[in-house]
Amino acid sequence: MVRTDLQDRSPEEAVTVASLIDRNPALVGLRRQYEEQGFLFLPKGEGLFSQATLQDVAQIVIGEMSHPAAHCGRDPTHKVEVLEIVNDRAGAVPADASDIAPVMRMILGNKEMAVAMTYIAGLPEADPLHFRRCQAHFMEEGSLIGLHTDTASNSCYKLALSIGLSENYSGGEFVVMHRDGEHHRFHLNENDVVILDPEVPHEVKEVTAGVRVTLPIFWGTHNGTNGRQLFPSAHAFLNRFEEY
Ligand SMILES: [Fe+2]
Repeated sequence: MVRTDLQDRSPEEAVTVASLIDRNPALVGLRRQYEEQGFLFLPKGEGLFSQATLQDVAQIVIGEMSHPAAHCGRDPTHKVEVLEIVNDRAGAVPADASDIAPVMRMILGNKEMAVAMTYIAGLPEADPLHFRRCQAHFMEEGSLIGLHTDTASNSCYKLALSIGLSENYSGGEFVVMHRDGEHHRFHLNENDVVILDPEVPHEVKEVTAGVRVTLPIFWGTHNGTNGRQLFPSAHAFLNRFEEY
């Protein structure tokens, strides 16, 4: 969808929900499904992304992660390697943190995506969401992300999206604690996409073999300062890497 939109749209044409639906009628069903479930699991990004777009994203991110000069942070407790692309730190505004930030903003942080995410989230078109954070997670055997909500990182988050970038790993299921009381489990394969309400608790189970690579992205209601209190407790400090 993104690639087609970018190619088809003239620069003068306004990005509206109506124009997006016109080009991609599947959005209507995605919004309805999201409203019912509080999340979406889209195998191979079906209904939202073209395969070419997802291949571009994977190639750019994996290429950057394997670059010796890329700055990856590592959580020593849970062994999650993080490549910050656009970061959103407490007390600061979102900032580009990688050489690939501009191109990722173009592919995933564009106006069409913001309007589409706002629509799926059921929020007013007049006040589109802002692309706030984008990072890649590289999880080897023994790596996990504990139960958390994404709004713990920033209470303004209204929609989270995660793209699978690897295929050959075991364990590492994405588990969503849904409001219906059920736990939904997804094995995020290459190009699979999960869209989630950031207030919904979720976790990533321990990776037992191979390498799990994903690209989580977060949209929020504004692009100003992240009002999160920096490490309000010792527990928050020790678990700071869980706030994905
Ligand atoms: Fe998360």
